[in-house]
Amino acid sequence: MKKIIICNWKLNGNKKFIKKYIKILKKNKKLYKNNKISISPPIIYMDYTNKLIKNTNISLTSQNVDINLKGSFTGEISAKMLKKINTKYIIIGHSERRLYHKEKNNILLKKIIITKKVNITPIICIGENINDYNLKISEKICKKQLKYFIKKKGIKIFENIIIAYEPIWSIGTGKNASIKHINKINKTIRKYINNKNKKIKNKFKIIYGGSVNKNNANKIFNLKNIDGLLIGKSSININEFLKIIKNINK
Ligand code: 13P
Repeated sequence: MKKIIICNWKLNGNKKFIKKYIKILKKNKKLYKNNKISISPPIIYMDYTNKLIKNTNISLTSQNVDINLKGSFTGEISAKMLKKINTKYIIIGHSERRLYHKEKNNILLKKIIITKKVNITPIICIGENINDYNLKISEKICKKQLKYFIKKKGIKIFENIIIAYEPIWSIGTGKNASIKHINKINKTIRKYINNKNKKIKNKFKIIYGGSVNKNNANKIFNLKNIDGLLIGKSSININEFLKIIKNINK
């Protein structure tokens, strides 16, 4: 099964940058023939990017979605609109949205449901903060974050979704979680969900995000329990990103 690499550009980029980036990416398609690459630009550039990646195996990821499909919701973007421009994945519950936009579990659950409704794959972000990490309660925190959704909607909510394990303390800090830690958390998440119901067994994916760069990508990406990477800063520079995809396939 092909592993996935998602480039979360966050609030960065412009048309000139995107045009050049996709052109170089297309030229180097041999480098990622065994992987799935998905680009997540700011929403205003989604359709532009969609046109540039036509007839390639690069897909589109949205950084956000609204809880409504249409109506009087000023400033929002609907899952249906995202579907229309071929969006394959939607990132939900990124720690930056939880922090800066006060998105709580009840909102995140609605976002997951609406995303699944239009047949887009949700990428649900979870992860502990530095205090939790120091207290060695990372596993407990991650399970707690997942538990809310299970309690409200049952284990089926995790069918065909992607869970992104992104320890908050490693996002944008240059400090990636150790291989041992990533392995441990991933095993815990997998076991936690699989044990709830046999029917769900491995019908979901787990990816890692947090200070992935050209030096650490190979080891993380090739972990048995990891289905891919969610990359922020290092995915913005095309040369760094090419080095990452070169290194992971070494
Ligand atoms: P960095 O790769 O910049 O640490 O960001 C990770 C992230 O938040 C991806 O969603």
